[in-house]
Amino acid sequence: MGHAPVRWGLLSTARINERLIPAMRSAPRSELLAVASQGGRDKADRYAATWNIPRACGSYEELLADREIDAVYISLPNSLHREWTIAAARAGKHVLCEKPLATTVAEVDEMAEAARRHGVVLQEAVMMRFHPQTRELQQRLAAGAIGDIRLVRGVFSFNLDRPGDIRLDAALGGGSIWDLGSYPVSFMRTMLRAEPVEVHGWHALGALGADLSFAGHLRFASGAMTQFFSSFQAAPFAQVDILGSKGQAIVDVPYLNKVGISTQVRIWRTGASRAAGTFSDSPANIEEELLTFDNVNAYQNEVDSMVASILNGAEPVVPLSESRGNVATLAALCASAQTGAAVRL
Ligand SMILES: NC(=O)c1ccc[n+]([C@@H]2O[C@H](COP(=O)([O-])OP(=O)(O)OC[C@H]3O[C@@H](n4cnc5c(N)ncnc54)[C@H](OP(=O)(O)O)[C@@H]3O)[C@@H](O)[C@H]2O)c1
Repeated sequence: MGHAPVRWGLLSTARINERLIPAMRSAPRSELLAVASQGGRDKADRYAATWNIPRACGSYEELLADREIDAVYISLPNSLHREWTIAAARAGKHVLCEKPLATTVAEVDEMAEAARRHGVVLQEAVMMRFHPQTRELQQRLAAGAIGDIRLVRGVFSFNLDRPGDIRLDAALGGGSIWDLGSYPVSFMRTMLRAEPVEVHGWHALGALGADLSFAGHLRFASGAMTQFFSSFQAAPFAQVDILGSKGQAIVDVPYLNKVGISTQVRIWRTGASRAAGTFSDSPANIEEELLTFDNVNAYQNEVDSMVASILNGAEPVVPLSESRGNVATLAALCASAQTGAAVRL
């Protein structure tokens, strides 16, 4: 039995839309119908013409009032995610909202409550979670691929030299921790399937109050410790490695923000036979495994998953409780960086 397609509207002309537009067009039961810009009708018209989008709206309110729109993609600055998610839910629109879902737990709770009350799907567009690499590694670690996880380390950085970028302004929810650090923190929590019990953070602030670099330590009830570093002041770099009681996993492209590349995870673990070496580290005692993922478009999976949740009631890949956990952790890290003291969650 066929379904009418999900008709999408874009709230803003953000650059990230360029990843989602092809995905909305390729999804079998999805149609991109409209774009809205707070920059006014002309900006919306120009964007709609460039991207061949049928309808252009000169305000977000106008798009939300369009009864033929079923779902919106919110690609606004982080500080506006709450306001427009709630407005969209009230208008009866399903919401795919960019990461981080918000910058306080209270905001996440309000957004979740609005979605529940108005009976719409709300999901965070944390694309990494929709990539099979993330899921498969999570499953293998849970099955004991490297024993008990002791340490996870993650780095995500690039040099941001675009004056006026939303990421540099605290009033817009900027900061490297929210933009980049949110990925390693999400990755660690996902791999450990747990929330941290204590965090400690340090930041280097920029002129507009947003951090330019952030380092954090997280402690989990299992005894696992994690570390991350995010920065707008360092060469482009993204890596995660995970050390367990029996081996290690090295993830070369952990956050998967590029489309169409091959990604690899290298796993090694100590083998079953006892080695002669004092520290059982002889090469003969090591088993190695290489996981390769070719040509995956996680943005496509993200849109397909939303469509399945909207049309078929499929479980969301990223439950709101997990988005909430990420925001709670990031907010606690920021609080720690401000006071200099560790924060317990
Ligand atoms: N999932 C990913 O891979 C990924 C990658 C990059 C970014 N993101 C997320 O996507 C969101 C947008 O990031 P982006 O870099 O694409 O943003 P961007 O290019 O800077 O665009 C943000 C858009 O928001 C609208 N806007 C509304 N009020 C604004 C204000 N006060 N100041 C600036 N812009 C305002 C503007 O569109 P109009 O004027 O047309 O309304 C603007 O084009 C963020 O939440 C970010 O974390 C996700």
